[in-house]
Amino acid sequence: MLPLDERPVAKLDRAVIFLGPPGSGKGTQAKGLAEKYGIPHLSTGDMLREHVAKGTPLGLMARPLMDHGELVPDSVILRMVAERIERPDCFHGFVFDGFPRTVTQAKYLGELLKQHGLKQPFVIFMVIGTSVLMKRMTGRRICKVCGEIYNIYERPPKVEGMCDIDGGELIHRPDDREEVVGPRLHAYEKQTAPLVVYYRRLGLLCDIDARKSVDEVRQDILQAVGSIRGER
Ligand code: AP5
Repeated sequence: MLPLDERPVAKLDRAVIFLGPPGSGKGTQAKGLAEKYGIPHLSTGDMLREHVAKGTPLGLMARPLMDHGELVPDSVILRMVAERIERPDCFHGFVFDGFPRTVTQAKYLGELLKQHGLKQPFVIFMVIGTSVLMKRMTGRRICKVCGEIYNIYERPPKVEGMCDIDGGELIHRPDDREEVVGPRLHAYEKQTAPLVVYYRRLGLLCDIDARKSVDEVRQDILQAVGSIRGER
């Protein structure tokens, strides 16, 4: 029999949410899961960074907040997400990374999913202590071309500063500077951590031990998602 992550799968037909502190591995795992199920990976952080790079009005408004580790207002995020999931590629589900981040966003998402005829979301909670997060974030490098995520300590590229996949330049996110990581963790504790209680009460939360290696975490997530398919 083929190993679990090499078997072909049908579409997921639901929303999967990655919830966890900054640096817990949401982006690393969300990308792979979305590819596995052939559904879009929707990262509100990536969407915002694209606006910042293009200098759109939204980007100009969001940039100072992001640079200081603060959240962008709910109204802005909700409009951006609602527009994105209207697109046909989202009809069979999607993987959210970095959204929802407040209880207001979670409630709004619940309504949107109902409107789109999708089931309740499956929420993967990346469980990890804050002590390792500083190293993960300050060591993170991202390919400017394909978005592949590296870490100079744990997952270095073969050639320093260059993506293994396409040779693209690896960049250091401005909010990964040591002085911004503290405020980001604070924002998480204050505004996002309450979602753990919110989704647990709804019975939608699945705890994943995010301290394990990237491959082990991936296996645990595939197992968890596989077990709920068609069951709720
Ligand atoms: P966003 O881009 O969403 O950042 P974040 O939530 O802070 O999460 P990160 O991207 O930092 O971490 P991650 O969990 O994805 O970890 P990764 O896989 O990269 O948001 C940025 C900003 O945008 C926010 O501060 C806010 O201002 C704004 N924003 C975004 N969404 C918003 C919303 N909904 N509402 C309001 N504002 C919003 O991994 C990290 C590192 O660790 C990498 O180097 C990786 O290689 C390494 N790594 C990953 N897994 C492992 C492992 N298992 N073992 C060892 N190393 C690992």
